[in-house]
This record gives sequence, structure tokens and C-alpha cells, in this order.
Amino acid sequence: MSKITIREIRLASRPKRLPNADNFSLAQVELEPPKEGHVLVRNLYISVDPYMRGRMNDRKSYVPPFELGKPLEGGAVGEVVESRASQFKAGDIVTSNLGWREYFVASAKELRPASRDIQPLSVYLGTLGMTGMTAWAGLELVGVKAGEVIYISGAAGAVGSVAGQLAKLRGCRVIGSAGSDQKLKFLREECRFDRAFNYKTGSVFEQLKLAAPEGIDVYFDNVGSETLEAALSALRVHGRIIACGSISVYNDEKPRPGPSNLFNVTTKRLTIKGLLVLDWVDRWKDFEKEAGTYFRTGKLKHRETVVEGIENAVAAFIGLFAGQNVGKMVVKLA
Ligand SMILES: NC(=O)c1ccc[n+]([C@@H]2O[C@H](COP(=O)([O-])OP(=O)(O)OC[C@H]3O[C@@H](n4cnc5c(N)ncnc54)[C@H](OP(=O)(O)O)[C@@H]3O)[C@@H](O)[C@H]2O)c1
Repeated sequence: MSKITIREIRLASRPKRLPNADNFSLAQVELEPPKEGHVLVRNLYISVDPYMRGRMNDRKSYVPPFELGKPLEGGAVGEVVESRASQFKAGDIVTSNLGWREYFVASAKELRPASRDIQPLSVYLGTLGMTGMTAWAGLELVGVKAGEVIYISGAAGAVGSVAGQLAKLRGCRVIGSAGSDQKLKFLREECRFDRAFNYKTGSVFEQLKLAAPEGIDVYFDNVGSETLEAALSALRVHGRIIACGSISVYNDEKPRPGPSNLFNVTTKRLTIKGLLVLDWVDRWKDFEKEAGTYFRTGKLKHRETVVEGIENAVAAFIGLFAGQNVGKMVVKLA
């Protein structure tokens, strides 16, 4: 195949606070045909995720910052168009970390094979992908057991909705918070949460107390700040916190003071465990076995919000911070 012209999204400047469209550019580039051992892939779905906000800062973290003027990276599922690697043939479905672009050429070792039998293929970015794995790993991290009460913030998002469903399937009593009535309905009716409340319409502290008058055993933190404070108060003696994310502070310019009631950790002998999905790669098969079986038998629902076109990917990403997604936010490419 000869050269093709494709579009990719680049980081144009580092955002201050909430990112806006000017922080990004949509560039056209020419792709060379694949050389020996390489594969040309057309992305079908790309992922936008809150963690990407951290990589837009010029700050050392667990993954390096995105480079200015270079295409962004992120989860993607695509179809092999041309292969010069023995592991893949045209038509194969693959996942990669080469999202934010329409096509790419990569060596075979940068790709993971996926099956067309799983539909929609965007499930590989959500329930059976990185965010589903995060949910599963969080429950494993603190050994969530049947009969326990678990509270999940950011519950109607990609990680939260899977964490809640898996906890329910493990026999827990599950409480979730989210930011709209539509999301509460989704949590109660589709994800079978026992209780769900809207953190925007009242105090989290009061609503959590009403939902769990006897307290909670586990808190799955996707949000941080006041929600973490409320959970610290609600946790029982020997309770555990899965420190997964802190989306409420990702756009802050300066760090906020920590929870005012951290002394609960001492008085109630709490455990806070940090979760990084990257640490769990070698448990991928265990995750696939549990989540994949539940998904195929209809016990684990995959919900997603689909935005169409690479030109709308930036808006989809920014929309995460305004709660515009129910379930996993994905971008479908033509
Ligand atoms: N540790 C890891 O390895 C790992 C891996 C993946 C994700 N994460 C973290 O897990 C969390 C969830 O990620 P996700 O991919 O599943 O995203 P998501 O929940 O699908 O999307 C983000 C959601 O966060 C909520 N939100 C936005 N701003 C908020 C605020 N100020 N306060 C409270 N809620 C807010 C919005 O829902 P509402 O309408 O409910 O506000 C929005 O829909 C994030 O913190 C992410 O960074 C961690």
C-alpha cells in the first residue's frame, strides 16, 4: 500500500485548570506503509480517560507527561488493514495504546489480539478493558467479601459501574453516588446497586449516613476531596479504602489540603491502599475469566457513551469532567 494521509490529535499547550479546545490540535500526517514486522491499523474506537489529564501537566508521575506537538496516546481498538508481521493478518481486531489517531503503523509487539465475537468492540476499552480491570483489581486489592457494605463514588462511570456490579455479584451491599438522576436510575435498575444518591443535590456525608446507617466496610474512591472525607466518617473499624482516583482535583492548579478528618485512620484502624492498574497486568487472565464470564452470560452490563468522529474526541475528553458520560466514554471513528 502507498502512503496514506490520516488525522491525529496533538497536545498544543499544557492546560491550566479545565482543558479547552485550544490546548489541542487536529493535525494531518502522512503514514508510510508498514515495513517488515509492522502492521497498519485503522482505529475503530478510541478511549478518553480522566487519567490523561495528569499526563497533560509537565510533572513527573507514574507515567511520563505527554509531549507538546506530539500525538496523544491512549487505549484504542482497531482493525488490521495491512500486515507485514506473521502474528497478524488483514481484518484482525487488535487493541493498543495508540489512540487519538485514525490509523497507525506499529510493530506487532505493540498490539494485543482481540476477538470480533465481543460486541460492541468498544467493550475492550471499558468493561473488558483497562477500566473494567481497574474495577476488578480494586476489589481484589482489599479483598472485598460477601456480606460487606461497599460505597463507590463516581459510581456511574466506567470504573465505578463495573466495580459496583462485580461487588454485587460477590454478595456485597452496594451504595453508589453519581451526579444526575439519569445516572441514579442506571445504577439502581441496570447495575442493581442497593442504594444510589446524587452528590450534587445534598451533602455526601448526610446521604451516605442515610444509605448506610451502620457504616461501610469498604470505600472505592474515584473522586477524592469531600467525598473521601464523608467516607472516612462512615467507615467502620478496620474499614478499607481503595484509593483509585481523585477526579475532583485533577484540574486544580494547587494541591488542596487533605481530609480534615484523617485521624479516623488511627481511631478506626483503617487501611488505605493505592491502586494502579498497571501493577495488575500479570493478573489479566484472572480478570478476564471472572469479568468475561459474567459479561458473556449477561450478568455484567457494559454501558457506554459514544461520541462520533475524531474531531469530537477533545470535547468527549473534556466532557468527562462535566459528567457527560454514563458508563465508559468512547469515541467511534468512521
Ligand atoms: N488507579 C488506576 O489505575 C485508575 C485506572 C483507571 C481510572 N482511574 C480513576 O478512576 C476514576 C474513574 O475513572 P473512569 O475512567 O471510570 O471515569 P468515569 O467515571 O467514566 O468518568 C468520569 C466521571 O467522574 C465524575 N466527575 C467528574 N468531575 C467530578 C467531580 N468534581 N466530583 C465528582 N465526580 C466527578 C463524572 O460523573 P458524575 O456525573 O457522577 O459527576 C464523570 O462522568 C478516575 O478518578 C480515574 O482517574 C484510576
